[in-house]
Amino acid sequence: RAARAGAPPRSSVSAMTGTAAPSPALLARTRAELAAALEGDTAPRAVVMTMGALHQGHFDLVAEAARRVGEAGTVVVTIFVNPLQFAPGEDLDAYPRTLEADVARLTRALTGEGGSLRVGRLVVFAPTPEVMYPGGEPQVRIDPGPIATVLEGRTRPTHFGGVCQVVLALMHLTSPRWALFGRKDAQQLAIVSAMVRDLAMPIEIVPVDIRREPDGLAMSSRNAYLSPEQRQQALALSAALEAGRVAAAAGASAARIREAALAHLEAAPGVEIDYVALVDPETFVDLSGAGLGLPEGADGRGSGEPHQGLLALAARVGSTRLIDNTLVPLAR
Ligand code: PAF
Repeated sequence: RAARAGAPPRSSVSAMTGTAAPSPALLARTRAELAAALEGDTAPRAVVMTMGALHQGHFDLVAEAARRVGEAGTVVVTIFVNPLQFAPGEDLDAYPRTLEADVARLTRALTGEGGSLRVGRLVVFAPTPEVMYPGGEPQVRIDPGPIATVLEGRTRPTHFGGVCQVVLALMHLTSPRWALFGRKDAQQLAIVSAMVRDLAMPIEIVPVDIRREPDGLAMSSRNAYLSPEQRQQALALSAALEAGRVAAAAGASAARIREAALAHLEAAPGVEIDYVALVDPETFVDLSGAGLGLPEGADGRGSGEPHQGLLALAARVGSTRLIDNTLVPLAR
């Protein structure tokens, strides 16, 4: 029986599955409950950090986590809508919160009868802001560095600082061997990877590919904001990436690949472009000479230069801001 997410049981750690299950799933709402859930657990452990409203893209992360830890391992899924990564006027209050359904789906997928994935244990950590930030506004802040100032960071200057703040704290609280991040948030992936490297954290960041709807739209919790008409218009994003991929496959230069994607998006009705960029996937230096305030790099044709570029775009459809990206080969 799943614990009611809205009214968590009083026990220090709440079992979410029936008593007959050999490895019950656990819902922890406080740091103490999480610590109790993980105490003495020496099994391989992976963490999937989410803001909830789980969709198949999240379950791809969970599936990869389950594969990594194996049948005796522990998967920790964190569910926390992190106020620090939302600026005033963004969708913090409107962000979908579906904890009860999320917990039930995770439990079914990882420990339930019909679930295709088996792990030793599933722990869901769903703290409140007070639990996550017990001292209120954090005094010590993570500076996510130059990658955080471009593209998404230009529109959302405080976003990646807030992401790093919570990711670092969640890494400390969950002590995983692996942390899984989706490629959909490519800039987040690059920044978190740099943080783990630069702060010498003994955690392997595992990227997981973007999950798309059958018509190409990248899955996102924010797709729920789109009207049926906007949902159709939003297909222009993945179609623009496809135009870029076609150009790349024909051996086009980085500048031409970006132009192909940009031209497609410019011609699309109902889409207000924020940026279309072709960057190095790790450093986010510009490979296409597009400007955009990006630090400049070579276009990938010199020896030792990256042979893959990240074609990334952001656009508004109605009032919903969507992002998408793809890796493209760059001819040497
Ligand atoms: O990608 C997300 O959902 C969030 O940025 C994360 C990593 C859970 C941090 O709040």
